[in-house]
Amino acid sequence: MTMFNSDTKLYTPSRHKDVLKNPSSQLAHIDDDMISRLANEVYREDLPVTMDRSYHDDPTTIDEPRPEEFLTIDQPRPEVFLTNDRPRPDNPHVNDPEPSHVTTDPYQQHAESSYYFLSHLHPTVTPIQPINYHTNHLDSYSLRKDFPILRKRVNGRPLVWLDNSATTQKPRAVIDSLDTYYSETNSNVHRGAHTLARQATDAYEDARKKVQMFIGASSPEEIIFVRGATEAINLVSQTYGNANIKEDDEILLTMMEHHSNIVPWQKLRQSNGAIIKPIPINDHGEVILEEYEKLFTPRTKMVAITHVSNVLGTVNPVRTMIEIAHKHGAIVLVDGAQSVPHLGVNVNQIDADFYVFSGHKIYGPTGIGVLYGKRILLEAMPPWQRGGGMIKDVSFDKTTYNGLPNKFEAGTGNIADAVALGTAIDYIQNIGIDRIEEHERTLTKYAMHALSEIPGIRLIGTSPSKTSVIAFVIDGISSDSVARYLNGEGIAVRSGHHCAQPALRRFGLDSAVRASLGMYNTKEEIDCLVNAVRKISRS
Ligand SMILES: Cc1ncc(COP(=O)(O)O)c(C=O)c1O
Repeated sequence: MTMFNSDTKLYTPSRHKDVLKNPSSQLAHIDDDMISRLANEVYREDLPVTMDRSYHDDPTTIDEPRPEEFLTIDQPRPEVFLTNDRPRPDNPHVNDPEPSHVTTDPYQQHAESSYYFLSHLHPTVTPIQPINYHTNHLDSYSLRKDFPILRKRVNGRPLVWLDNSATTQKPRAVIDSLDTYYSETNSNVHRGAHTLARQATDAYEDARKKVQMFIGASSPEEIIFVRGATEAINLVSQTYGNANIKEDDEILLTMMEHHSNIVPWQKLRQSNGAIIKPIPINDHGEVILEEYEKLFTPRTKMVAITHVSNVLGTVNPVRTMIEIAHKHGAIVLVDGAQSVPHLGVNVNQIDADFYVFSGHKIYGPTGIGVLYGKRILLEAMPPWQRGGGMIKDVSFDKTTYNGLPNKFEAGTGNIADAVALGTAIDYIQNIGIDRIEEHERTLTKYAMHALSEIPGIRLIGTSPSKTSVIAFVIDGISSDSVARYLNGEGIAVRSGHHCAQPALRRFGLDSAVRASLGMYNTKEEIDCLVNAVRKISRS
């Protein structure tokens, strides 16, 4: 239970007036969760904020905002705070770093490095100087209101979600989409004449079309719904791979692959006697293209490469790499698990043969993902799993298979999650993937620069062509300890090998801390991370 005293000042929009205007009867029932929710609603919902200066006299006074005090998303963030915290922030805004009219805040004079919703974390730490921090007007502050979980407090702190490479949080639209599907549309697909069967089928196939458009595939038949990137790679290795990669044939994998893009190929090596050759990377965590090209032989059949590394953040030059592979007659699978959430992808432009990704990393649900394959390849491949839905005709003598995409979707698929993935794609497209990309790249640079100034820190993955992933170690402190300390501050990061052990070993490490960004992360959250890391590195 939060304690209120005469120092506690709760600024709130009029919407919460009723709850709050009677402190004696109501405030006693307000617990931490509610405090958090109210503060975040004010902060995130772009609501008019009470700016009444009379609170000094009566901290519980709630006044209607004056018209000039209505704040919009283009203005600095509202001066809303629950304060027993000192010092107060200076209300920076991503698109307007200049001080503004809100500087009338009586606490402004005490403002230091942090921000009202993070001020508990680093009240005394020197501010980090922004380095050309600007974005093309992606308003991550406003976006945050769409993500209910971001209102949560963890360990008494506002949640700072920097574990987006593991999974992204879901906007309300995606959550509602699942609800609506099950409340109004639920049916099996492709198998009924009734209304709901038709509606569910339409919704499922619409989602497929959205994916097709989103990644620039030529037709919806080239989009296969699977559980995620891992399943998609297993599908390709066990169908295309089994049929086409034989003993002593070679598979090239970069040293920065996720285990999901290594282990399935090892299975093929085990069963078919194929050879796996690692593609070397340099000290910045970039593929060494000259070395890459030297690896090709007439036996190179498959190149499987990540588009964006989940531990280094490197954006690989996949178009060039594919061109080189095709010149040598090899097929290329691109693991897009960490690219589709962060940058625009067009599978036709890069000429990928296969492209895979997971819905949950792109603000959609878990349990749904995508395999894109060129039609000519998918048509020639044998089915993977067998059962209902993927057949054209079955007798006890023989079975003929359905065409694309059904041939690869045996059994009842993950219909609701596919539909909600379509909603996630709509959501992203409404914002604009280019704006997301620029915002995240800018934030990544900002974070890299700020962290690099902390003594004792070593950043892993320093390519100028990187996005959204920041991995580091601190001298003398285990990654696990760092992550646990940050968790205590409400900051969610990963520690460990990140399912990319060969990549970490390339840098002489078994483990690292990884902060990974999403569209809703803010500069203030990066400051919060950096300040916490600075603190722990001094300890
Ligand atoms: C680059 C990369 N590939 C593949 C995967 C596997 O994704 P999923 O577990 O959703 O199948 C991940 C997950 O972190 C990843 O980062």
